[in-house]
Amino acid sequence: MSVPSHAKPEVIAHLTQAFAFPISAYDGLVDQFIKELHEGLTHENRMPMIPTFVYELPTGEEAGVILSLDLGGTNLRVCRTTLSGKGNFEIIHKKWTISDTLKKGPGKELFAWIADRIEEFLDVQCHAIHSESNYPLGMTFSFPCEQLDINVGKLFAWTKGFRGNDILGQDVVKVLQDCIDAKKLNITVNALINDTVGTLLATTYKHPGCEIGIIFGTGTNCAYLESQSEIVKIKSGAANYTSPTNHQVINTEWGAFGNASGALPANEYDNRLDTRSSQPGKQRYEKMVSGLYISELTRLVIHDLAAKGELFVEEPGKPKTDEQLGDLAIKERFDGAMMGSIEGDESTNLDTIEHHFLTNYNLKTSTSDRETIKYICQLISARSARLSAVGIAALIKKRKLLNEPRKVIVGIDGSLFNKYPHFVQHLQGALNEIFNPATVQSRISLIHAEDGSGVGGAIAAYLACKQQGQPV
Ligand code: GLC
Repeated sequence: MSVPSHAKPEVIAHLTQAFAFPISAYDGLVDQFIKELHEGLTHENRMPMIPTFVYELPTGEEAGVILSLDLGGTNLRVCRTTLSGKGNFEIIHKKWTISDTLKKGPGKELFAWIADRIEEFLDVQCHAIHSESNYPLGMTFSFPCEQLDINVGKLFAWTKGFRGNDILGQDVVKVLQDCIDAKKLNITVNALINDTVGTLLATTYKHPGCEIGIIFGTGTNCAYLESQSEIVKIKSGAANYTSPTNHQVINTEWGAFGNASGALPANEYDNRLDTRSSQPGKQRYEKMVSGLYISELTRLVIHDLAAKGELFVEEPGKPKTDEQLGDLAIKERFDGAMMGSIEGDESTNLDTIEHHFLTNYNLKTSTSDRETIKYICQLISARSARLSAVGIAALIKKRKLLNEPRKVIVGIDGSLFNKYPHFVQHLQGALNEIFNPATVQSRISLIHAEDGSGVGGAIAAYLACKQQGQPV
């Protein structure tokens, strides 16, 4: 990351210090992360560490045609996956953007809309709207649920800006099944998984041996295969107390790391973002790592500098007012895609940045402004990648995976990992610093999970059918 030559040195020094994440911070934070993983497996009300009732990973030989649906932070997808064994699959899907009205409106309306989309998909893509045979459907639902069985999950919090509080505490599978039944569709929702569990299942289907699935996207989270004996908080006699395989997949909900301990190096901007969020004090790690939040952090920094007369100044001594800053002064009006394209701007004049600010906010930028803005994006995304590496390292160390002879395969999906310029290099660089380059190179593979949520949902439904002794 090159330090901007035209920008004000004192501004750059302040930002560099605020977002610094020195190598010396890694070890302490990785140890604290491991401690919080253990605490979550032992006690309630810590890092959620949710047992998922998924007791085994696929072999790659599963075969069948299965529906799945993927409700993430930004889009809804309905998918039809044909698993054909040997790690092969074909998927057809349709995607809809979830409007702000649906996100912030009642949960029941969101689910009724989802059932409408399933019907549309069956009709247009499968020509099977009132099929005789019953379709199993795997539901990939990327929000924290307390799982009571593979097909029962009580939503305990919305994240990523969703607000449908009317269904908090309810079983989301039942809410969806009721909406499907009201439309008389011959579909049974037989598995509920988190997107990270989907990522893990989809990666393992293609790369047997993978035990960790991660999302670095709008939100961030991780699922992994844990020994049943480590999950101390499962009470004897509980439905999932005894696992048929002595293992169980855990949905960590690691976005909650640092909530109670305050272990994360939060600065004034992190704290401002947290205070103004819909859930202050929650998801502190996610708020420093994932796409939704790092773009909002970037906006907060740019807005702050503009208000102090350090950016977009046309007349000396006259900082821009909020009215003049327009959308830039409004929460979440600066998205991750824009941040990525700013960071990816390699032109001499930083034309993309100039264009973005002119067309989206009607703001003229000087060379110094453009360099400063790019630098802010770089600082925030590099810190996000380093913190991401802390989570991965903690999981690898907790499971002592480097003590085993085989390679550690980590399946990863999400827009930050797949699309954000330099994110993967920073992540890899940080892992090199935590372990060492030779170990990382020879022992750790970060693999892009191909459609983790869609295929993973289908595999979960397959495994649930098998667990329940039903044909696929
Ligand atoms: C949020 C959700 C979590 C999900 C993650 C990635 O952290 O709480 O369930 O897995 O986003 O989509």
